[in-house]
Amino acid sequence: MDFAMRPAVEADLDEIYAIEHASFGSTAWPKQMMTTELAPSPNRNYFVALEGDRIVGYAGICVVDGNHADVMTIAVSAEQRGKGLGRALMNRLISVAAKRGAREMFLEVRADNPIAQTLYESLGFAQIDLRRAYYQPEGIDAVIMRADLSAKVVELAQQAIREPLVLGIESSCDETGVGIVRGNTLLANVIASSMDAHARFGGVVPEIAARAHLESLQPTLREALRTAGVSLSEIDAIAVTNGPGLAGALMVGVGAAKALAVATGKPIYAVNHLVGHVGVDVLERGEVVTPTIALLVSGGHTSLLLVRDLVSDVELLGETIDDAAGEAFDKVARLLGLGYPGGPVIDQAAATGNPKAIRFPRGLTLPKDMEKHRYDFSFSGLKTAVARWVEVAEAKGEDFSIGDVAASFREAVVDVLVSKAVAACLDNNVPRLLLGGGVVANRRLRELAAERCEAAGIELRIPALSLCTDNGAMIAALGAQLIMAGHEPSTLDFAADSTLSVTSIQTS
Ligand code: KG4
Ligand code: ZN
Repeated sequence: MDFAMRPAVEADLDEIYAIEHASFGSTAWPKQMMTTELAPSPNRNYFVALEGDRIVGYAGICVVDGNHADVMTIAVSAEQRGKGLGRALMNRLISVAAKRGAREMFLEVRADNPIAQTLYESLGFAQIDLRRAYYQPEGIDAVIMRADLSAKVVELAQQAIREPLVLGIESSCDETGVGIVRGNTLLANVIASSMDAHARFGGVVPEIAARAHLESLQPTLREALRTAGVSLSEIDAIAVTNGPGLAGALMVGVGAAKALAVATGKPIYAVNHLVGHVGVDVLERGEVVTPTIALLVSGGHTSLLLVRDLVSDVELLGETIDDAAGEAFDKVARLLGLGYPGGPVIDQAAATGNPKAIRFPRGLTLPKDMEKHRYDFSFSGLKTAVARWVEVAEAKGEDFSIGDVAASFREAVVDVLVSKAVAACLDNNVPRLLLGGGVVANRRLRELAAERCEAAGIELRIPALSLCTDNGAMIAALGAQLIMAGHEPSTLDFAADSTLSVTSIQTS
């Protein structure tokens, strides 16, 4: 069986209704009621099963008082029965009900439908009651069934769920990324970077980045589909970064994703770039083990997060109050005349230098700063200190070693990053640290993080570098997690938000 499944959207109403009417005849729900049921709601989830672009089944649950779930409806079109679709839909409902905290699940089924009853029994349901002449006007009895959503029942359902095929689009900074995943499996991760175009400016120029996204999006999309070996019509949903990032750059990805969603009729998920950096770990590990602290360091951000649940509970512990860590590398590389991007060239220069040669300041680590800015970062003072040091040395005509300056600067950045991340783990009693962002390529950062985490009994996760730098696969992966947790798609009126808060994992 190869059906796709995704959350139902209001545009599905006519097709759903056609099946409802054909399946239930006179006992079908009125169309108005169906419309209400499909409207986004915090306690209802409806899914449609698709064969190609056609809806061939649907089902919905309502989670009542967070404790038990009722199957609202389930139907499969006549010509598709007997192919396991009803089971697939039920597995999806069980999985979502459990994720929403329900511990038991109820349904009613016509007494003259033994096939359905057998199916429900195989999923863990048992009859608890019989309602006489419930289905009118024929006067058919309703069998009331109940399932205990035990760990075993839920696990079987989750295993059986076909994982959604999600296309992710990322354009928040200078990488145009398109990724494709099926559930937790990476199928394609294609990136076009406009880095070279920014090199002569020593940093990302927003207008140039936006322009480059426009040019790169179509070829990147085509290449991702080719690599994954799927067509656009097979995609179950589109996910896109809607923030935080550069406004103009974000707008290009958001516009493209919306156009694709409208043209193909697929649901769209507007997701948070920073949470995407965390979600990417499912592609290597099969899950994001929570709670975890995440340290995200790139040219655009330096954030320390406490992730209690990837799709529902992310807290910003702290962030940079001025330059991002990668930006500091870029600026210092520039003032040392080393080129762009700064990270790799400083890493190279530092390889031969002495990290203890110069004691550069560690931003926001003094006792008084640690009270107010325990998890915040500041790198602009460090950048100025390096500039001043070089100026003084040059003025004195000293023959200083660039390697020593680079190594000492790098040590100062990395020391602060790792110290604060480890403190966040210890303070919050979270024995896990996940790294993300382009600065993770830094050799000394990896080394020091490994050392200090080991000493503190913290498990360190560093995804592959191709997944750490900005990419579309992480956006697709987060989209897939949201879908599998039963989240409704975003409505088309969401906007790019350059300062999107990390607590907004998905913009509805
Ligand atoms: O995640 P990323 O690709 O996204 C943007 O912010 O665009 O990160 C790029 C940043 C640049 O600032 C670059 O200097 C930095 O990551 N970076 C490094 C290293 N490699 C790249 N920083 C320190 N050490 C490195 N080896
Ligand atoms: Zn990023």
